[in-house]
Amino acid sequence: MGQLVFHQGILKDHVAFVTGGGTGITGGVAHALAEAGANVALVSRSIEHLETAAKAINEARVREGSDPESTSIGEAFAVAADVRKPEEVEKAIAATIERFGKIDIVVNGAAGNFLCTAEELSPNGFGTVVDIDLKGTFNICRAAFAELKKNRGQILNISATLHYLGTPMQLHVSAAKAGVDALTKNLAVEWGHYGIRVNAIAPGPIEDTEGIKRLVPEPIKEKIRQRVPLGRFGLIKDIENAAVFLCSDAASYINGAIIVVDGGHWLASNSLR
Ligand code: HXC
Ligand code: NAP
Repeated sequence: MGQLVFHQGILKDHVAFVTGGGTGITGGVAHALAEAGANVALVSRSIEHLETAAKAINEARVREGSDPESTSIGEAFAVAADVRKPEEVEKAIAATIERFGKIDIVVNGAAGNFLCTAEELSPNGFGTVVDIDLKGTFNICRAAFAELKKNRGQILNISATLHYLGTPMQLHVSAAKAGVDALTKNLAVEWGHYGIRVNAIAPGPIEDTEGIKRLVPEPIKEKIRQRVPLGRFGLIKDIENAAVFLCSDAASYINGAIIVVDGGHWLASNSLR
């Protein structure tokens, strides 16, 4: 287990359903929630991604203590589903409840991206990203609603900052993530009455991720890094810490917030440096 930032076991007795939980940023978030004590269902299309990530969590659990009753690390479970397909989403929710008894945390991290100018983007290219990022988030929230209502649970959406200004070659993702932010605020208002908190994290550029690999060509990487006021790319750990905080009781009055975790990057977009 890495160095503890939070009190051990602060998410014990929670169950998190994490889309995109097999890789990258949301893979890190799933691991961090498990380290904080939650049982986690890892959900995406590729069972290979999911089983590898689940194995890493379950092995850490075994390393920590051979007695499953006393370990503070949660258990992981891999369940394949495409967030674009409501029937697969419903089955994944049901499988998680069957395995862990409930769901009270939903993390929506599944996303797709590629660089493409607006004039070259096909209707299906635009639609595919909106289908995964925005409609997929809706599909998950909708399918998990009854369970979240029953457990006074919460939703954490993974957004972005690129729609705060205009970002070339990112029309599709900007539109989708702007929608995710709208969904976050609307659900916070509608479902807050049921005790369901709905928040988002908007990461800036995060090192060693598929997103950066796809979006930031090596020659301009250093230039982008210099634009970040804190002088570095984000780490997956930075997003993990924000996620554990938002999912914990320490954030029990935070609802409808979109927490930017980007080292000040987007605010400095006008910087001439
Ligand atoms: C133009 C493209 C394209 C490209 C795909 N398309 N790649 N158009 N340039 N590079 C178009 C296709 O031509 C097709 O339209 C349509 O998109 C659907 O393509 P498929 O390959 O059939 O889609 P699918 O198999 O469903 O895959 C979805 C995907 C893929 C998004 C295209 O890349 C994927 O699975 N990505 C998941 C991993 C990922 O993207 N991770 C990064 C997340 S980072 P036509 O018209 O030809 O049928 C992120 C960062 C946000 O979100 C902010 C960072 C700062
Ligand atoms: P990533 O590892 O590629 O994560 C995307 C995940 O989504 C993958 O695990 C993928 O798994 C899953 N996925 C894609 N399509 C899916 C579908 N139709 N159904 C179910 N799951 C699907 O990329 P990342 O860079 O870490 O991004 C993670 C999140 O952070 C995304 O929401 C992204 O928009 C956001 N973000 C990233 C950055 C960054 O710097 N990287 C910045 C801002 C925001 P499968 O292939 O197994 O389906």
